[in-house]
Amino acid sequence: MFISDTHLPQLLPAKAYSDEGWYKLECEKVFHDAWWAVAFSVELQNDGDFLTVELPCGPVVLWQRDGDIRAFLNVCAHRLSRLTSKAKGCCKTLVCEYHGWEYSPLGKTQRIPDAPSFRPLEKDGLGLRQLCVEVVGGIVFVSQSKDAGSVHAHLGQEETNRLCHRDRYPGKVIHRADLDVPVNWKILVENNLESYHVGFVHRATLGGIPDGNLCTHKIIPNGSMFFGPGAIDIVSAAGRQIAKKTHGDEEDRYIHGISYPAFMWTPESLWTSFQTVIPTGPNSCRIIWRILAPQSDRKRRLLNFLARSIAKAQASFWRRVVNEDVEFLPSVQVGVESQIQPGEGLISRREERIFHFQKWLVDRIGYVKTNDFVGSV
Ligand code: FES
Ligand SMILES: [Fe+2]
Repeated sequence: MFISDTHLPQLLPAKAYSDEGWYKLECEKVFHDAWWAVAFSVELQNDGDFLTVELPCGPVVLWQRDGDIRAFLNVCAHRLSRLTSKAKGCCKTLVCEYHGWEYSPLGKTQRIPDAPSFRPLEKDGLGLRQLCVEVVGGIVFVSQSKDAGSVHAHLGQEETNRLCHRDRYPGKVIHRADLDVPVNWKILVENNLESYHVGFVHRATLGGIPDGNLCTHKIIPNGSMFFGPGAIDIVSAAGRQIAKKTHGDEEDRYIHGISYPAFMWTPESLWTSFQTVIPTGPNSCRIIWRILAPQSDRKRRLLNFLARSIAKAQASFWRRVVNEDVEFLPSVQVGVESQIQPGEGLISRREERIFHFQKWLVDRIGYVKTNDFVGSV
């Protein structure tokens, strides 16, 4: 059942999906204090493993040393070049690709080629800029801000528990994709918050829209949850039985959660998937998408093999679904960028999670719908 009895207004003006000024406000008022989920911690399993990611604040490198995952701005203290252009790797010191400055696990300058030419040099004052990191439910979150609060507090207690439920089991990343999409980040988020388009965009893969009586929305302070009927095909049913045996999972519903601004996750019976939509400009974004399959103890090799095989088949099905969205959504970008519009748009009960997302956003931006002036009070 949905929460609202009636349709809801579209709170964001069309220009919010392409305007430079609006994007700048989002950078200041929304992205600055945001937590971005960028990887599963198992992707940084070995001492020295690193991976890089582009966040709205700049390029970032995540580095595991001595069991701690740290995040640094991927920018060198010498002449501000990007430190490393590699997507991932493993190293004992981070070495800048430009003039070879080396950095320690704490981000301090360690070795500087031809150091005497920098005399007098206060080495301690030079180093990498460190960012905040938290690992929750095996997912690595990064924030540029010390005022972001904890990930736990931002997600909510119940959602944190649900996310951490499988953290007891070692997992394998079975799908890893970074997708650049030429649309504003909110178009992707909003598309994920409604099941209305399923009957059209995903007719071939998902069939019709789910029965509204079997769907539940839950609104939480910084996000929302969707609970819907789980898939009823025989492979999914077998997967649920295996999940019960391997990690005691009893869930048979489809669950989709969002924690604003753009962390979305699905805890399926045999895998946990997350997608983070990273804004890369007013009309472009990148999806960081990972799927992790939990593994039971080693003695249950056959069960683990079956669980992973089913999870992989399901992951490849969801790849098709996500591709359908990625191919379609540039059409929405064309529409919102049109100079003239047929009206302001409106939001159905089935799309009500979008309304709450927009409300959260306009409250932060300080936008009031009565006129089209950003920043009015
Ligand atoms: S910019 Fe990094 S060593 Fe020069
Ligand atoms: Fe979709």
